[in-house]
Amino acid sequence: MQAFLAQLKPVLEHADQGRRTEAILEMEDRALPTLDGAAKRMELLTLSAKSQADFAWADAKRSARRALISSGILFLSLILAGAGLSVGLYRSIIHPLAKLREGTKRVAEGEWNLSMDLKGPPEMAELAGSFEDMGRSLIRLQVQVTQLDRMSALGTLAGGVAHEINNPLTGVLGQAQFLLEKLSPEDPLRGNVERIERGAQKCRKIVRGLLDFSRPTDYVFAAVDADTVIDHALGLCEAEMTLKNIQVRRIKSASPLPRVWASENHLEQVFLNILLNALQAMPAGGMLTIEPVVERPGYRPQELPWNEGIDRHGDHLAVTFEDSGMGIAPDILQRLFDPFFTTKEPGQGTGLGLSISYNIMKALRGEISAASPGPGRGAAFTVRIPCAKDDKMLVNDASSLGSVEKRLSDFERRFEDGI
Ligand SMILES: Nc1ncnc2c1ncn2[C@@H]1O[C@H](COP(=O)(O)OP(=O)(O)O)[C@@H](O)[C@H]1O
Ligand SMILES: [Mg+2]
Repeated sequence: MQAFLAQLKPVLEHADQGRRTEAILEMEDRALPTLDGAAKRMELLTLSAKSQADFAWADAKRSARRALISSGILFLSLILAGAGLSVGLYRSIIHPLAKLREGTKRVAEGEWNLSMDLKGPPEMAELAGSFEDMGRSLIRLQVQVTQLDRMSALGTLAGGVAHEINNPLTGVLGQAQFLLEKLSPEDPLRGNVERIERGAQKCRKIVRGLLDFSRPTDYVFAAVDADTVIDHALGLCEAEMTLKNIQVRRIKSASPLPRVWASENHLEQVFLNILLNALQAMPAGGMLTIEPVVERPGYRPQELPWNEGIDRHGDHLAVTFEDSGMGIAPDILQRLFDPFFTTKEPGQGTGLGLSISYNIMKALRGEISAASPGPGRGAAFTVRIPCAKDDKMLVNDASSLGSVEKRLSDFERRFEDGI
């Protein structure tokens, strides 16, 4: 602009001095080209301002678009993360929970042998496992209840009958023995009276077994070492076992076994009944394996009285006696615990050993069960006893087992009776 003003100065001077032509010439030659240049520069300047504005506008538009895209991406990722979370939640919690709910429904409808096959977090799998255990426990309970119904009816009947028979029977036996004392050895009636005496003796054994079966004898509960009780019961059978060439294998657990909450004498009676049966099932010798195992169901069976000495977690000690004897046919397995059920020759067994054991295990809040792969293939009897709540309660008093003499004489009587 200053250049243009400088060019304009001589033009104005010429015009002031009245030199119009020179002024015009000066104007055309110098001032106007300078003005043109300035105008062009102005034009250029305007143009560049416009393009800058355009550029800024485009830039703003671009930034806005970018912001829009990024928020879109953010929004989409949030949706995807939410969906992922929902799928995870569904897989790990909702689906297993639905399966569990379905399982409870099935249990409520009586389908107790269910397998949930739950995949999910370990807690859920554990819950399902406890549920399946519970189902199995319900099945066992159902079998027990059915058995119990039958047994209690039979037990009441048997107890009553035994009581009624016992008195006249004592009379018959006493009279027969009196006659035998009086009759001379050559008397022709002696043989008849001897048969009466033998018959009456046999009846008395049965009645004694029946009374054992139906009469609840004193249960003295304490924390008991099952291993010691097994030792005692085995000790009573030792001679018979050696005679029959029966090997005994004791499988000891690596960790010490917990005590059980039981009446020691009664538990020994159960073990003894099982051992006697095993002896009788292996007349030509064989192998008897005894294995105690701790079972932890992980829930508290409702039927156990928790205020007593029983372990609060529902732990049980399961002792299995497995023999390589004659085995048991499936149809017989169902009836083993029925009173008077026996497959033995008359005089060999009364069929009361296992039913008495069943009653004892019921009183001990445990159970007894039998299994066999079939005839000729051995049998296994498992006794489950509730563990004791606290080892400090242990009454490890050997005298509670009674004197050795008394136990031996009891054993002899039971062995003779075949119970
Ligand atoms: N270890 C065993 N192997 C095969 N059968 C067995 C065994 N234990 C018990 N039994 C069967 O169970 C029946 C009932 O046993 P139990 O109640 O002790 O009565 P008993 O021994 O007087 O027959 C037996 O007669 C026998 O058929
Ligand atoms: Mg028996």
